[in-house]
Order: sequence, then C-alpha cells, then structure tokens
Amino acid sequence: MDKYEKVIELAKRRGFLWNSFELYGGAAGFYDYGPLGSTLKRRIEHIWRELYVIHEGLMEIETPTIGIEEVFVASGHVGGFSDPLCECKKCGEAFRADHLVDDIVEVADALSNTELDALIRNNDIKCPECGGDLGDAYEFNLMFRTAIGPGSGRAGYMRPETAQGMFVNFQRLLKFYRDKLPFGATQIGKSYRNEISPRQGVIRLREFTQAEAEIFIDPRDKTHPNFERFAGTVLNLYSEHGQEHGTTLQVTIGDAVKQGIIAHEFLAYHIALTNHFLRRVGISPDHLRFRQHKKNEMAHYAIDCWDAEIKTDRFGWIEVVGIADRTDFDLNAHAKTSKTELSVYIEYDEPEMVTSFVVKPEMGKLGPAFKGKAKDVADALKAMTREELEQDGITVVVDGEEFIVSPGLVKFTEETVKVSGETVVPHVIEPSFGIDRILYCTMEHAFNEEMVAVHEGRDGKESKDPKEESRIVFKLQSEVAPVQVAVLPLMTKSELIGPANKIVALVRDKGLLVSYDDSGTIGRRYRRNDEIGTPYSITIDYESLDDRSVTIRDRDSMDQVRTPIEGIEDLIYELVYGGREFKTAGTPV
Ligand code: ATP
Ligand code: GLY
Repeated sequence: MDKYEKVIELAKRRGFLWNSFELYGGAAGFYDYGPLGSTLKRRIEHIWRELYVIHEGLMEIETPTIGIEEVFVASGHVGGFSDPLCECKKCGEAFRADHLVDDIVEVADALSNTELDALIRNNDIKCPECGGDLGDAYEFNLMFRTAIGPGSGRAGYMRPETAQGMFVNFQRLLKFYRDKLPFGATQIGKSYRNEISPRQGVIRLREFTQAEAEIFIDPRDKTHPNFERFAGTVLNLYSEHGQEHGTTLQVTIGDAVKQGIIAHEFLAYHIALTNHFLRRVGISPDHLRFRQHKKNEMAHYAIDCWDAEIKTDRFGWIEVVGIADRTDFDLNAHAKTSKTELSVYIEYDEPEMVTSFVVKPEMGKLGPAFKGKAKDVADALKAMTREELEQDGITVVVDGEEFIVSPGLVKFTEETVKVSGETVVPHVIEPSFGIDRILYCTMEHAFNEEMVAVHEGRDGKESKDPKEESRIVFKLQSEVAPVQVAVLPLMTKSELIGPANKIVALVRDKGLLVSYDDSGTIGRRYRRNDEIGTPYSITIDYESLDDRSVTIRDRDSMDQVRTPIEGIEDLIYELVYGGREFKTAGTPV
C-alpha cells in the first residue's frame, strides 16, 4: 500500500471519506464526506473564513450554482473551458490527452492538441486500459449543461467556478462598498466540472468545493496597503523563468517583488496569505511551492497566475490553489454582453488641470458636403490625432469608403480643463482554493505510522513487559481536528460515567468538539483517537473521584499529565487554540 491508499483506507474506515453511491457500485469523480470528514472540512473552511472574510474584510455572498447561458458565454467558458480528450480506438475509454504525456513533459497542459498527438505517436503511447491505439486529441467542454424549466427550457450550466457569481454582482457590490476600491467578495461553495477521467480520487472530482475571493482593485495602483505584513516571509517560488532551468528560489516576498519575480504587491500579498492559510491548516512547508503559469498554459482570463502546489506521495506536485491576476477581462466581457457599464468613477484627491486635444468638426459644412454620411465622417475625424489632421489632405474611411475632407471643414484646438476624477474598469486578483484537495493533503501530511512501546496487555491491564507495536496517528493541527478532545471514563461504571459526562458538557460549552468514548480498553480507545487525530484525551479514573483531578494525554508525544477538573475547559481551550505547551498543563504522570 502506498501512502495514498493508507490514507484513503483510514479515511473510509473512520468516517472521513466514502465513495458516493457505493450502494449502487459508485461513480467516478464523486465522494461523500462522513461525519469526521465533514467536520474536518468545515474546520478548514472556518479558518479560510476567518482569514478572508473577517481579517481581509471580503464579505461572503451566495449565488446560484446553476448559471444561465449568457453568463458563461460572456465569461468564455462556453467557448473555451475544455480539456483535450483522447479516446481508445479499441475499447472506447476516454483519457485526458495531456495526462497521458505527464511523465514526458513537465507542463503537459501547455501543449496544443497537435503537439499532444505527436508526443503520443512518437512515444508509442497506448491505451492504459487495453493497450489499444489512441485517437487524435480533441477539445471536450467540461461544463455540465442543463435545461432550466420544463421542456427544452432555458439553457443553463452548473457553474465551473464560483467566481462568475461575484462578477455579475459587481454593481451591487460596488454600491455595498460605497464606491471605493479596493473591495472584494468571497464564496465558498460547490463547483462542477465534467472531468474526462477522474482517476485520482478526491483530487479530481466532478463536484467539488471552491473557496474563492474576487478582489477588485484600482488598475493604476497594484500596491497593497498591508504588504509589510508578509514582506519578510520566505517562500519556495518556482517562477516561469525558474522552470526553464528547474530551479526553485527560496526568497522573501519583499525581494520577489523588488526583483520582478512576482509582478506586483497585490498578487504577492495574496500568494503569501495563501501560504499562511495552508501552513495553518497543517501543510508542511517543505512540501509546498508556488509555481507560476507559463504564458501558454494560462487560463483565457488571466495575465499572470501562481499555483500553490503541494507534494503528494502518489501524485507528485498537485495544484491546490490558483492565485490569478484576471485583469479587467471578466468585467469587460460582462459589460459588453450585458451592454452595461461596469466601471468605477475615482475622484482625485486634488482636481487636476488636464490639457487635451479637441477636434471640432464643422457640422454646418460637413452636412452639405457628405449628406447622410456626415455624422460618420465627423466621428471618424474626432478619432484622429493632431498629426493626421495637420496633413494637407485629410482622408477618412467610413464603411470602407474614402472621403476627402478639405481643411475648412474641421477645426481643432488644445483645451485645458479641470478634471476631478476618472472612470476605470477595476482589475481582479483572485485566489481560488480547492478545499477537497487541501483536505486530502492535510490528511496525507498528518498521516504517520510509528513504532511505539505498548504497556497494556490484551485484558487492558498494565503489562510488565511492554511490547513494540505500530501505531497510526493523524497529527492534525488541533484547530482542524474533527474531535479536539476525547473524554474517556477508565471503566464503563456509573460512578465514572457521571463525572465524565459533566466534563463533556463543560468542554462543549467552550465550543470545543468533544467525543465521549467508553467502549473497549483504554489502550484501544487511545489508538482509535490517535487514528482520527484527536489531539487530547481526558481520562477519568477512580482517583478522580477522590482528588478531583484527571489525566490528559497528548496525542503526538503520548505524554500524560495529571490536572484538576476545576478549570479543565479553559485549559483544553488554551491547548487547542492558545498555543499553550502540553508540558505546562499539569504534573507529569
Ligand atoms: P487542474 O489543472 O488540476 O485540472 P485547474 O487548473 O483546472 O486544475 P483551477 O481551474 O485553477 O484548477 O481551479 C481552482 C482550484 O479548484 C484548483 O486549484 C483546485 O484546487 C480546485 N479544482 C479544480 N478542479 C478540481 C477538481 N476536478 N476536483 C477537485 N478540485 C478541483
Ligand atoms: N476561479 C478560477 C477557477 O476556478 O479556475
């Protein structure tokens, strides 16, 4: 078993992840979250909300997961949201053509279909299922199409990203934020992609959860007001240039911007914030890098994009977050399609005197000269430069027809006027997180198998000669663990169950996730809690009844301390959230 199999086996057995529709044989690309998986996912989302919604002030909105066709025509998804599909001529199985050549080139999704076909032929790549010949690659649109309403209905699509819901609400959001840039919105919700061959479990799903922020900024100023917060943070950067030489730079965010590795502060700030979030949910820093997209792999809407990539045991580096500069692409696209201006008027701090070149066609003379075309000629003149208008003969072209305009028919001059502001189309910085992939990676990075000395015999009593046993332990961060503390009466006896339940209630009142567990020997219960990542276990024994104290066990070190029941809820809270060291929690046992 490789690590992926071990993690998934544990995840299924303990109620983290289950194959969807298992009762009917399952369906690729769908996973259910069991009780512990759902809780772990919510804990991860909770931290995301804390950072993006509360700290960054990017308010959360909720928009439909089905979108009408106009939205996705405008966004470019109907025309171009596709992956290259390649079918086996013998068994008919479908594959992502770029995934078939993943081992041969580093960034296969940057290749054209012709390049993919050539690589497949030249390397004699056959169908991974039956060894048959593969057909040519063609584009397959990943959106699930649906009909809204009865009959043939109105064409709609399941959203492939949550982002469009924020773009189409731009005007409402602008008002909400009182017409001031920068501002932004977030959504955490389901997205849908009809992935061609989802063979990577929870990494490639057909229905998955994204947490996205769309931050609308002034295109003339891409600095970030809090840049200093992360300027000293060192990251592994795998820039477009670095990829040519296979070098990852370890550099501070401040230097990365100074040296032009990351184009601007706003993008850099969000790369660093992504790093902060991923570290906080438990991703190991040495398995995390930020890879810049190559120009030819960039999504149709972006001019720059950095992916947070996490190293996994089976799949190597996988993208978990994309941080893109989407410029004004989406707002312009929706403005054009909806015929609505999507822009912001920005008032200058001080009005500016602006001198501009003004063309004044003489309509009284142009009318008789050009009749029905006079207005078009006038418009064409207004679009001309001073140099063009100063030439001896002025020629304008209207609907492919040339018109000579004699000098007396147009005047031009320079005018200086007071300007108080200007209208701009904001640019968008977008961090787009895939929560399911992050959740899997936190589990893989937390998964440990280690040999430990077991002091308990089969009967649950202390044994004189401890034996070595392997233990599986999920070293999840206390903050994300689906059970933060387990309360365990040493025996299933009413005199211990009563006080144990009181402790459960006390700790629950602090908002901590508590489980009460009285089945099996204490050793088995510790091991069960190690496997689900419970950071602390509280054991109530007969001494507790006399000395009003309990034993707390630390999952990672397996150390135990004795501590009073009085105030136990505050102590556990500090251990989980306050960074309190375990060894300060009581007297070592
Ligand atoms: P990939 O190249 O792996 O298909 P992508 O470039 O299409 O990913 P994006 O379009 O940038 O991914 O989507 C943003 C985030 O959404 C990704 O970083 C990823 O975490 C998540 N995501 C995208 N597709 C899937 C999927 N099929 N299953 C699970 N998560 C996904
Ligand atoms: N919103 C970015 C993406 O889903 O690709």
